[in-house]
Amino acid sequence: MPKSRRSVSRGPNGWVVLWRLASQYRWRMVLLGVVSFGGAMLEAGFLVVVTATVLALAAGRETIGPILGVSMPVTVALVLSGLSVAARLGLSLATVTISTTLGAFVRTEQRRRLAHAYLRSSWSVQQAEAAGGLQELLTSFVGRINTAMNALTQAITASLSLVAFMAAGVAVDPVATVVVLAALGILGAVLTPIRTLVRKQAAISAQADLALANTVAELSALGQEMQTFGVERQFERQVDLVIDRATQTLRRLLSLHGSLSPLYTFLAYAAVVGGVSALRVFGVSSLAATGSLMLLMLRSLTYGQQLMAVSGTLASSFPSLERVDETVAHYASNAAPRGEATPLSATPIQLDGVSYAYSNDRPALQGLDFSIEEGETIGVIGPSGAGKSTLAQLLLGLREPTVGAVRVHGVDLRHVDRRWFTSQVAFVPQDPLLITGTAAENIRFFREGIDQDELVRACREANVLDDVAGLPHGFDTHLGERGTQLSGGQRQRLSIARALVGKPSVLILDEPTSALDGKSEALIRDTLAQSHGLVTTIIIAHRMSTLDLCDRILVLEHGGATAMGTPGELLATSAFYREALSIAGGA
Ligand SMILES: Nc1ncnc2c1ncn2[C@@H]1O[C@H](COP(=O)(O)OP(=O)(O)OP(=O)(O)O)[C@@H](O)[C@H]1O
Ligand SMILES: [Mg+2]
Repeated sequence: MPKSRRSVSRGPNGWVVLWRLASQYRWRMVLLGVVSFGGAMLEAGFLVVVTATVLALAAGRETIGPILGVSMPVTVALVLSGLSVAARLGLSLATVTISTTLGAFVRTEQRRRLAHAYLRSSWSVQQAEAAGGLQELLTSFVGRINTAMNALTQAITASLSLVAFMAAGVAVDPVATVVVLAALGILGAVLTPIRTLVRKQAAISAQADLALANTVAELSALGQEMQTFGVERQFERQVDLVIDRATQTLRRLLSLHGSLSPLYTFLAYAAVVGGVSALRVFGVSSLAATGSLMLLMLRSLTYGQQLMAVSGTLASSFPSLERVDETVAHYASNAAPRGEATPLSATPIQLDGVSYAYSNDRPALQGLDFSIEEGETIGVIGPSGAGKSTLAQLLLGLREPTVGAVRVHGVDLRHVDRRWFTSQVAFVPQDPLLITGTAAENIRFFREGIDQDELVRACREANVLDDVAGLPHGFDTHLGERGTQLSGGQRQRLSIARALVGKPSVLILDEPTSALDGKSEALIRDTLAQSHGLVTTIIIAHRMSTLDLCDRILVLEHGGATAMGTPGELLATSAFYREALSIAGGA
């Protein structure tokens, strides 16, 4: 049974996810720390020296200091200041390079992680993924992970700078520095409730973005229906609703996030007043020290403000981080089966007490017990919703039976090597989809080693060769986005060619001729008749004419096999078959 999204336990929180991410790039983070700390120390030294120089000049002295016991001529101090700002520039640029490289790594890595996990997940999970959802996760959500990573590197830079400034401050005047430090800590703590609100609002906003992406993806696929049913206005209203919701949630998020910095600044300046009052109470040793300290503290406040902004950014990106992590875990825990067994042959295919339920209520298939022998052609008929397509997906190993097993030459399909199995089996789905590419690319479908002759053979067998030859560039003609330049019947025949080109030993067709005219259908029937006995074929069919080819027919009704036998036997055993035949005018 596929696990539902809801059953996924809540993943680890944003900090844990971010820490896991960051620890992959441990050495770069350390380098970043060292470089930013060095830069900040240079800046702090610069501020101290410059203040002392200005004060020395104002007092008409040619020597500055002593600062921390060191005195030096003004010219030396000026040269040193100039060198330190130049070096500071170099280190700042290095910080930017390291952090942007880190961001790029993280973005690529996360996109790959998510895309690969999705591609390796089982069909039932892939199929349940809402349209547009994965796209949104891969783009905006991963974008926010990148933002979080940048915020983290900025946080490292700002914290280490703060440490460097505080260290310089302690050297100049320990008491005042400690007071300011305590004030900064309190400021950070005071704003915690707002950060929590930011995080909550960010989760709501991310959810609204996903809803918008899903709605847009769904509506954009329904253009034809929208126009023919004249429901453009209703579509507009629905789009407006999700857009409004996404905008509103984002607006709330941004205004909360935006309020953090001004609030912090207000509180920080209040703390400066406190710091100055402390100087008044405890006194200061020298004018130079006071001046330097003021500069250091003001600059520290800037870093503090940066830290505050960064913590807001982290809070707003955490829900995205958590969601991506959770989704990857969901895909990974529902990975497609990866058996290793290679049976001697892809037949016989045996169903052993097979049942399948999509959800916990009524099963879509139940109690199926039959075997398909090598070279047989089996027809599957039954009313709409009887479970025919579901049966095809079980035979293809796309879904695992909830009860029982599908066995291939005696081996449970769950244990069969997928690569081997997919080389043996081909499928024509009920709604074939083409890729954006040429006719040849669509028939090859990423499989290697299929030459031109094989393309031509497959197209001839699928009765689509004339159509392909008639295209402006033949096999190399671009078929438009997802093959939109072809008719429904042409798309269906092309997908039959796609199935036949791999020379499968088992061919499963889900209503392969539903979009074809009588003549095309007859030609496909001829093809299938030619391979009769050579390829084991399972055809789900509505048209009774297609069933002429079949050695045996399975009648599926309400998920159960109500009859199975030769057409002659079914006349006696299946009311559904008799009725279908009489509607088709056959008996
Ligand atoms: N992805 C799904 N999730 C939940 N239920 C599903 C899903 N796909 C099919 N079902 C349900 O399972 C049952 C069998 O569906 P299935 O598509 O196998 O029928 P079918 O015989 O192929 O019908 P049709 O002839 O209309 O193609 C139906 O009741 C359907 O509602
Ligand atoms: Mg179907």
